[in-house]
Amino acid sequence: MTQKTDKAALSRRQILGGTAATIGGMAVAPLAGATDPNPLNLPPNVPEWTPYLGVGVDATPYGVPSEHESHVIRRNVEWLTASAESSVNFTPIQDLDGTITPNGLCFERHHGGVPEVIPADYRLMINGLVDRELIFTIDDLKRFPQVNRFHFLECAANGGMEWRGAQLNGCQYTFGMVHNVQYSGVLLSDICREAGVKPSAKWVLAEGGDSAGMNRSVPIEKILDDCMIAYSMNGEALRPEQGYPARLVVPGWEGNMWIKWIRRLEFGDEPYMAREETSKYTDLMEDGKARMFTWVMEAKSVVTSPSPEKHIMSKGQNLLKGLAWSGRGKIRRVDVSIDGGLNWQTAKIHGPILGKSLTRFTMPFKWNGEELKVQSRAMDETGYVQPTIEALQKERGVKSIYHNNSIATWLVKSTGEVENVRLG
Ligand code: CO
Repeated sequence: MTQKTDKAALSRRQILGGTAATIGGMAVAPLAGATDPNPLNLPPNVPEWTPYLGVGVDATPYGVPSEHESHVIRRNVEWLTASAESSVNFTPIQDLDGTITPNGLCFERHHGGVPEVIPADYRLMINGLVDRELIFTIDDLKRFPQVNRFHFLECAANGGMEWRGAQLNGCQYTFGMVHNVQYSGVLLSDICREAGVKPSAKWVLAEGGDSAGMNRSVPIEKILDDCMIAYSMNGEALRPEQGYPARLVVPGWEGNMWIKWIRRLEFGDEPYMAREETSKYTDLMEDGKARMFTWVMEAKSVVTSPSPEKHIMSKGQNLLKGLAWSGRGKIRRVDVSIDGGLNWQTAKIHGPILGKSLTRFTMPFKWNGEELKVQSRAMDETGYVQPTIEALQKERGVKSIYHNNSIATWLVKSTGEVENVRLG
């Protein structure tokens, strides 16, 4: 606690002197400590935090969540963590509302730790099949026309541990390698115009400034369509772990391609066959061959409450909440089942419904202690429908880690507790 709060607590005790006091004609109970559950302090009585001056404006120059929200944090899975510098953690999507992920809760995936890039020394190089090879500072980038766009970023391995069966008991651990923020930055099509891309340029190698030298090949059509160099997220500078001071944004495509701390774009006439698109981020099929360049994150949805972390606490009326997204565009519809997929109801979709961005859905339901098997199924504007795990396994086997966008099942038990299960 801050010194200020201690002083405030002391002054309360001095004022009250351990006896009942009257504030504005209403009796208030004596204070016995901040955690006193004394119901006399609850409405219709005046709660203890009301009659006294609170903490002043200079207490936290950069605001932080209430200490009572300290459980809402990124978490990792120990056995998925080889080392902290080459690791992943997960967004606590079960604790969030709306569609925007707060910057401090966006999941992280690093291949060589977070570099400490000095913004004044940052440079973005453009080379290869261009008329003018260029080097931009961060201020140069900020002089281009700005776009502000909401997009989800999902790791290709989100849900990757669930291919063979239910494994991780948590909404955060099975769906939390996704986040959704508003990016501010420059369209790559504008940068390409400045550099003068030659007609023979078909691919771009995007390269990061981290110690892993993370790089991926991106086809020129995607670069010119909607890719961005972003320098802000949710209105403030990118967080260091999200690529400060600039990152590549590849809307709707797997997160591994969104090169952070981006230092170079090389234009070439063929894919670069980088490590992260040959040895990794390919999808092993049953016959031993692997799918390569599987970029789009197909339509997916998840019920965030109830979920393994969000038990049902009360009988009667409840509210189911969830998130849906598609790398191909907007979410058109989300259906929810509470009986393991036998019957489906269409959930309410909340606006704004944006392309390649998280979309919120809710559905009221009544619960009287019966067992539920909760599922959600998203459909996007192309008509694509989120598949069952059985359909996905039939098509792609069970050897893959990546691109599992299947329907999950949460089992609600008679106690209201919830478990990640596999039906059948
Ligand atoms: Co892929």
